[in-house]
Amino acid sequence: MPSETEVPAGQIRPADSGGRDAFPHRHLLSIAHLKPWEIRFLLDEAEHWVGVNRGAAQKHDDRLAGLTQINAFFENSTRTLLSFEIAGKRLGADVVNMHAAQSSVKKGETLIDTAVTLNAMHADVIVIRHGSSGAVQLIADKVDCPVLNAGDGWHEHPTQALLDALTIRRRRGFIEGQIVTICGDVLHSRVARSNMLCLAALGAQVRVVAPPTLMPAAVECMGATPYTRFDEALAGSDVVMMLRLQNERMDGAFIPSPREYHALYGLTPERLAIAKPDALVMHPGPMNRGVEITSGVADDPDRSAITEQVEMGVAVRMACLDVLTRSARGVEGWT
Ligand code: CP
Repeated sequence: MPSETEVPAGQIRPADSGGRDAFPHRHLLSIAHLKPWEIRFLLDEAEHWVGVNRGAAQKHDDRLAGLTQINAFFENSTRTLLSFEIAGKRLGADVVNMHAAQSSVKKGETLIDTAVTLNAMHADVIVIRHGSSGAVQLIADKVDCPVLNAGDGWHEHPTQALLDALTIRRRRGFIEGQIVTICGDVLHSRVARSNMLCLAALGAQVRVVAPPTLMPAAVECMGATPYTRFDEALAGSDVVMMLRLQNERMDGAFIPSPREYHALYGLTPERLAIAKPDALVMHPGPMNRGVEITSGVADDPDRSAITEQVEMGVAVRMACLDVLTRSARGVEGWT
């Protein structure tokens, strides 16, 4: 599939760089740390894995054989946990999942003690989801191997933003200049935060729309333009990305009722008609059907890219696991 053909000045990787210069980071903790060409490098790497994953029989590439990947999830997950597990297994790693609910975290073990324990087992790469913003950075500071952020609190979910960018790039052909409207509980959404940073870095025009109670301060600093009226934000949109109301992160009432929220901010076929005629519909999942999105939109095969987002998640996570372990594997140019 095509890469972006028109890359704006200032976003181009220095011509003489390659190997480790293409991605000079030990960890993947946030999009905020990445240069546009580093994001584009990961997307290009992921394209390879889309092809492998779509292959008829042999999806295995054992370049991570002999390495141990620990997925430590302190919050629930379906898509991210399973796709990291599938990604690691397709690359040949020994993949171990730690679910906090069945771990010694429940007995009061601290996050730092947990990190030291995982490190003592000689993990080669650790994937972490945690409910507290900054927890993944804390663990990264305590271990000897690369750490990937699988979502930390309200902060960032970098691989989600990468898979969303890959989905848009493949479906629309390019990201530069695309009008992407992100609607919903932006305040509590690490997905929105990472997507604003990622898509703005790649040259998209990012709009965010939410009730005033669910709009964070200073979204302009993350490259987005705020709206409170959904219809205004939708006009001219190429991509509409819907977000779930994150009730588990709300302390008190942020909306009058789900019914009223749906009336003002729910994506219906009628409302989608305000966007461009071929506008793409996205949702990171899990969806609350009938609240932020109707089934008529979510299940429309011509407009919805929701299952494709899940597919791209495996490819992006394979790319990230491969790139972050190249140094430890002694890949030429990466040591
Ligand atoms: N999009 C996402 O992070 O989904 P999960 O919570 O199921 O991993």
